[in-house]
Amino acid sequence: MLVRPTRNAVVVHAPAKLNLFLEIVSRRSDGYHDLESLMLTVSLYDTLTVASDSSPGVQFSWSAGCHSDLQQTVPSDSTNLVVRAASALTAASGTNAGAKIHLHKRIPTQSGLGGGSSDAAATLIALNHIWNLGWSRTQLCELAATLGSDIPFFVSGHRAAICRGRGELIEPVEIPAGLHCVITRPDGGLSTAEVYRNCTPAKQPESAKRLVSSLQSGKFRDAGKLLYNALEAPALRLNSSIEAVRSRYAHESLYGHAMTGSGSAYFGLCAGRRQALAVATRLNARRVGHSFAVQCRP
Ligand code: C5P
Repeated sequence: MLVRPTRNAVVVHAPAKLNLFLEIVSRRSDGYHDLESLMLTVSLYDTLTVASDSSPGVQFSWSAGCHSDLQQTVPSDSTNLVVRAASALTAASGTNAGAKIHLHKRIPTQSGLGGGSSDAAATLIALNHIWNLGWSRTQLCELAATLGSDIPFFVSGHRAAICRGRGELIEPVEIPAGLHCVITRPDGGLSTAEVYRNCTPAKQPESAKRLVSSLQSGKFRDAGKLLYNALEAPALRLNSSIEAVRSRYAHESLYGHAMTGSGSAYFGLCAGRRQALAVATRLNARRVGHSFAVQCRP
């Protein structure tokens, strides 16, 4: 997460993530699921501009970025994770400072790309800075976990990590640069809660370890065969346009492909940037969802 203080504000680049591996380990008594997931940040990001304000409270606005043809809408009220994160930090720190936050939204919503979670993490980091709260990353991560399972990963600032528990237990991993992916957001998003409600925990859970060691030894072709997402099956049942994307990907000579998070976005591991751009161009020409190329761990 790139944080750039300017004279009157803090500008934060809030990256999207891909889940290269996601296993459902068990269903918990609190309604959540324990999981094991390999998350990597990618070169697609939202931009938050956060300025201090003399009057208490948070004023929030947003604008649509480069994927505006998806006609995304972002709520401006207290259901927005940015507004919720700001309110939670205000309450927990006891500050009476205010802020103006503008979100430039590029990451497709309801896609499993972590856009809302990353925006919330960026909000906590930026407000901690402009309000001079002096909170540690650990303190911010604890508050983040109360707002959403993926938010601590983004607050941690790690570019890649194995996430466990309900997502909030983070083990950073080093993944070499040079991973290029194509991402497609099919028509229609998915509700995270609904996808999880329809999943079945594994009888013998798989681990992300083999995938991590393939990536770490630069064997990206082998890594492609180990991409896995246990939420893909329930997501495919809930949104038939993911299947159309999946079968198009199967026609491309990719190292591997899978859904990210709880969907609906789908991604392919490519031999390089040129292939990622070519596949995105082909899929856009065929109007199979909305596709773009990214670099992992930017
Ligand atoms: O934590 P977050 O608010 O992102 O989760 C949204 C919903 O997804 C939860 O209410 C829960 O139903 C489901 N979920 C889950 N297990 C997880 C993460 C999310 O069941 N590890």
